Amino acid sequence: MRSVLIAAAALAAGVTTNAPATRAAGDLNLICSADVVICEMMQQMFQKDTGIQVNMVRLSSGETYAKIRAEARNPKTDVWWAGTGDPHLQAAFEGLTQEYKSPLLGELNNWAQKQAESSGYRTVGVYAGALGWGYNTDLFKQKGYKEPKCWADLLDSAFKGEIQMANPNSSGTAYTALATLVQIMGEDKAFDYLKSLNANISQYTKSGSAPVKAAARGETAIGIVFMHDAVAQTAEGFPVKAVAPCEGTGYEIGSMSIIKGARNLDNAKKWYDWALSAPVQSHMKDAKSFQLPSNAKAEIPKESPKFSEIKLIDYDFGTYGAPETRKKLLERWDKEIGANAN
Ligand code: F6P
Repeated sequence: MRSVLIAAAALAAGVTTNAPATRAAGDLNLICSADVVICEMMQQMFQKDTGIQVNMVRLSSGETYAKIRAEARNPKTDVWWAGTGDPHLQAAFEGLTQEYKSPLLGELNNWAQKQAESSGYRTVGVYAGALGWGYNTDLFKQKGYKEPKCWADLLDSAFKGEIQMANPNSSGTAYTALATLVQIMGEDKAFDYLKSLNANISQYTKSGSAPVKAAARGETAIGIVFMHDAVAQTAEGFPVKAVAPCEGTGYEIGSMSIIKGARNLDNAKKWYDWALSAPVQSHMKDAKSFQLPSNAKAEIPKESPKFSEIKLIDYDFGTYGAPETRKKLLERWDKEIGANAN
């Protein structure tokens, strides 16, 4: 099923899956922190467009941060594409990534340019997406559940064992959820909330979108995820409805960074400029990737959740992407939530 999807997405993007012999133009070592279908489509499109061989692995955002940190003395990665902005910012603030000012910066929306400026041009925004959840409408009907419209509704004891979210250490989505709740409620109240929510959580997954994929298959009723990941399941034909929380919610600026000491720096810059371009970003929807593109000239998919209709908080990327904040919140989550997980 997955390979059919990838082939279909690649076809729709006008690329073939049989990339030509590419060694002459050299290699690019890429970590991709978006969904594997868009990761493989981007890999194939870039290989076709440039002749550069892309060696790609898919890892969640927090996992990627940990990997590039562990490899800082002997970097094995050239580019980290996609994944939530907070760990990209942390890597930037810790000097794990390097400055690059793409000639395409001027084509980007303000929020993407701001991400670049605030990191000293060590990262840049590639897309944006709002946090929420998706639920299985068939299961809800069967079990007579009421639609959870607000963060507070997720604490209903009817949902015991019916909710999944990711672990914020590995997943940028779940870290965005943690930082969002802290910004809405204050830190202590947010941890009280997460402790109560823990009673309803069946599993903390590694990847951020896994919970709504499980909801789509009826393995859980609700998955706390980015809304575009819920919409992607609806677009696949699953009975999933996306919800924007009534109290307000946070969002991600999905980002891209070049690793300090990248061995294939020229090819890394080629990927960077290519991935910021409007034609490439306009193809993301072909892999059912429905984030808002950062290039202002790129086509916004009609399925993309509309920011104007979502109560968004003024997410403080500077604070929640800072190493001391991220480290502190994750340590507290491990101690107070992770240690008591089911
Ligand atoms: O599935 C796509 C996506 O939600 C991106 O928008 C986001 O940057 C990434 O996944 C986060 O993944 P994770 O939570 O696994 O780090």
